[in-house]
Amino acid sequence: AARLKTRILEINRQSARFFYSCLISPQGKPALDYLHERGLNDKTIRRFGLGFAPQSWDALTRHLKAQGFSEQEMLAASVVARGRKGGVYDQFRGRVMFPIIDIRGNVIAFGGRVMEGSGPKYLNSPDTPVFKKSRNLFALNIAKSTKEERLLLAEGYMDVIALHQAGFENAVATLGTALTDEQARLMSQYAKQIIIAYDSDGPGQTATKRAINIFNEIGLQVKVLSMQGAKDPDEFIKKFGRDRFRLLIEGSANALEFELQKIRSQFDLSTSDGKVAYLKEFASYIAGIKNPIERDVYIARTAGELEVGREAIASQVDYIIRRRT
Ligand code: GTP
Ligand code: MN
Ligand code: MN
Ligand code: MN
Ligand code: MN
Repeated sequence: AARLKTRILEINRQSARFFYSCLISPQGKPALDYLHERGLNDKTIRRFGLGFAPQSWDALTRHLKAQGFSEQEMLAASVVARGRKGGVYDQFRGRVMFPIIDIRGNVIAFGGRVMEGSGPKYLNSPDTPVFKKSRNLFALNIAKSTKEERLLLAEGYMDVIALHQAGFENAVATLGTALTDEQARLMSQYAKQIIIAYDSDGPGQTATKRAINIFNEIGLQVKVLSMQGAKDPDEFIKKFGRDRFRLLIEGSANALEFELQKIRSQFDLSTSDGKVAYLKEFASYIAGIKNPIERDVYIARTAGELEVGREAIASQVDYIIRRRT
């Protein structure tokens, strides 16, 4: 089994090299153009080892065979699939390729994006003997060594890559699924604080709520970045630039805390009357925040600090919101 894992890792590494060489060869021109159009420069493309899987049923299969790998081994690596007639065919065809690399530097899986046309937008490797989707994060291999005390958590490959290129090298992404416990624990080995920068659409916000709960449970500090005018960090940076994104990170959540701190200092929280009076002010202020997740974060925190039920504060906030609209 140990030998098979080694072989799979070798296949993955050779596949990534193959995809990269295809990307920079004439046949990869549309894919390279696509990446450039999305704003990635050659240094970034090399750094992430991006590639191109040719529109072919057997280009990778032939390449790997010539290097002495068996069909069994390729199947185990899931870079090929079993065909109906018993042979194998390339799993990724006509896609831009994103290698997934673990913290030891091994290529453990791939994501592949269509450039246009049919099929699912992204195709990801299934779990294999060397890859458990629920236990890995895209770009943690780079982000772990930034010595930042916090990690930025985004949804997609392109978000992370755009963030790194813009200088935010502490960005990682879940692999197209909801954040798992194991991923959160893995992050806690490298950071004290997580800034969630999921997409601003409905699914992104729902995923944010779940992620907040998971991080809270394992005791990681959480901040939620709220983006307006763009659907994800990649798009935000392209539209508004890195400085505006930095402001989102540094400013928004902190400004709120600062404001709350100011309100708080006007009350004597050692008395019940003081607590009640502060919570009224708090609820009134929090009711003015648009993002329900952001509200939830501060309600939960304040409930904990003042030893008051979270539900009680939340219902007071909801009451005020309803009265105002
Ligand atoms: P771009 O359109 O390239 O900017 O991708 P995106 O990351 O903005 O896409 P989206 O927000 O729709 O999805 C976020 C992440 O979910 C992607 O990076 C993928 O990892 C994953 N994902 C998206 N679409 C699919 C899909 O069709 N199938 C699978 N398996 N995963 C997907
Ligand atoms: Mn999304
Ligand atoms: Mn997105
Ligand atoms: Mn996107
Ligand atoms: Mn998109």
